[in-house]
Amino acid sequence: MRKTLIAGNWKLNGSISSITELVRGVSSGLQSLNCEMAVCAPYPYLQMVSEQLESSRLKVAAQDVSEHDSGAFTGEVSAEMLLDFGCSYALVGHSERRSYHSESDEQIAEKFNRLKLAGIVPILCVGETLAERDEGITQAVVSQQVLAVIEKFGISALSDSVIAYEPVWAIGTGRTATPEQAQEVHSDIRTLLASFDENIAAKTQILYGGSMNPGNASSLLAMPDIDGGLIGGASLKADDFLAIGQAA
Ligand code: PGA
Repeated sequence: MRKTLIAGNWKLNGSISSITELVRGVSSGLQSLNCEMAVCAPYPYLQMVSEQLESSRLKVAAQDVSEHDSGAFTGEVSAEMLLDFGCSYALVGHSERRSYHSESDEQIAEKFNRLKLAGIVPILCVGETLAERDEGITQAVVSQQVLAVIEKFGISALSDSVIAYEPVWAIGTGRTATPEQAQEVHSDIRTLLASFDENIAAKTQILYGGSMNPGNASSLLAMPDIDGGLIGGASLKADDFLAIGQAA
């Protein structure tokens, strides 16, 4: 049985005071939840959040990581550094990184591997644009994004890792994939993993992301291959984030 994971992606939002309040709010409502909860904080706040969460079940996560381990890479943050600050998870390949920072599948696979080597669970984000969906190539696009990791590092890299399916057209738009649309892609991803290793396919948590909120979370999370959510906007309000955890 796969455990449900609800991860909040704060993106470029927050300040010391607003994050302190948000963490306090989320921590106070965690007791009644059965699922795992994590928050992806901006780098400068990771230490503060991990200190504030020390006695809480909420896990700290990063939004990205460098593909390098050290050296002359100005502005980069390595997986080992994230580990130093108590990160349990980190996102790689978020569509905003793919599009605004031109990150390639190859680079994302390298980042994924850095996290694995450091013992941090990667959350590999995949998803098609609206044009790609309209063209009928969703499955091909998403498969290629997953295969980029498998071809470089083998299927074993996917064990103890998380995949987040986030259709680009649903991110921050208020337009959510229907549970059936999401389930179809999640099931395709699991089938792809199973073609390499059935055990890993059965165990891998596949999250849905893209305008998930307290109103639509239950129906999405009820689908057999949706094992949690990656939540942007709704993770910035403690009540909404907890309500999604409740739905899980
Ligand atoms: P959203 O963002 O929930 O605001 O659509 C999700 C994400 O980008 O991870």
